[in-house]
Amino acid sequence: MSTQSNTEPFLFYACTIISFLESRVDTYVDNLTPFFQCDSATKDWLKNVWLLEEQEHGRLMRIYVEDTWPAFDWSRGFKEFSDLYIPQCVTEKLRCSVGLEALARCVTETQATMIYRCIASYSNDPLLKELLKRMSTDEVRHFKQFKDLHQKYELEENNRFLRKAGILLNRSELVRDEDIALAFQPLNNYWVGSPPFKVWSYRIFLEHTAQVMRVHFPFEEAKRMLFHPLRTEKRLNKLLIEIMAKLVARQFLKYA
Ligand SMILES: [Fe+2]
Ligand SMILES: [Fe+2]
Repeated sequence: MSTQSNTEPFLFYACTIISFLESRVDTYVDNLTPFFQCDSATKDWLKNVWLLEEQEHGRLMRIYVEDTWPAFDWSRGFKEFSDLYIPQCVTEKLRCSVGLEALARCVTETQATMIYRCIASYSNDPLLKELLKRMSTDEVRHFKQFKDLHQKYELEENNRFLRKAGILLNRSELVRDEDIALAFQPLNNYWVGSPPFKVWSYRIFLEHTAQVMRVHFPFEEAKRMLFHPLRTEKRLNKLLIEIMAKLVARQFLKYA
């Protein structure tokens, strides 16, 4: 049983969004598998390692949410989220090459790592801190796998620096605007009785998220990890990375 007060809206929204997104990873795998058809080692890893670890994240976070906010009907909320989310996840939306898709996955793994570290720093519940720490360690391993895959395919694809930079920026925006917004939608609708806090609109949630991030988000580490796959010796490209890091930070804090 968690020791976190359940009157804390930020943690309810954040943890439930995480539990939804992590629990829907089978949809990602269905989409990614045909894309990585040419690489059987990656296909096996997605199915036998990545899928199982992400599903475990979803399961553990769901247990945490159900223990801490028992009046929220997780299953019905998750069903609404799935109905909204699955049609959005079509293979055509993926990047146009294996190397670039692997790069886009690096963004998602970086974000998960850093968001989990941020919430772990904000929370005062040892159970939640421990859970998020464990999850972020897995996400770093996933990042490394996708980074190696990107670098392997980069040798053949030889994508331009600006093309790769565009993928990083674009994916950073998508995660916030699409995935998180969809996962938020059912969160005020499936309470049995009244919630133990005054409910928030999505806009208020984003404002609070930005405030929490200002204090707890590891921006420097996030920058290093996010732009690591673009490692470059060119001075102009290094400068571009600095500018992009500022843009990404501003995207995150847009609603503050
Ligand atoms: Fe995960
Ligand atoms: Fe992951």
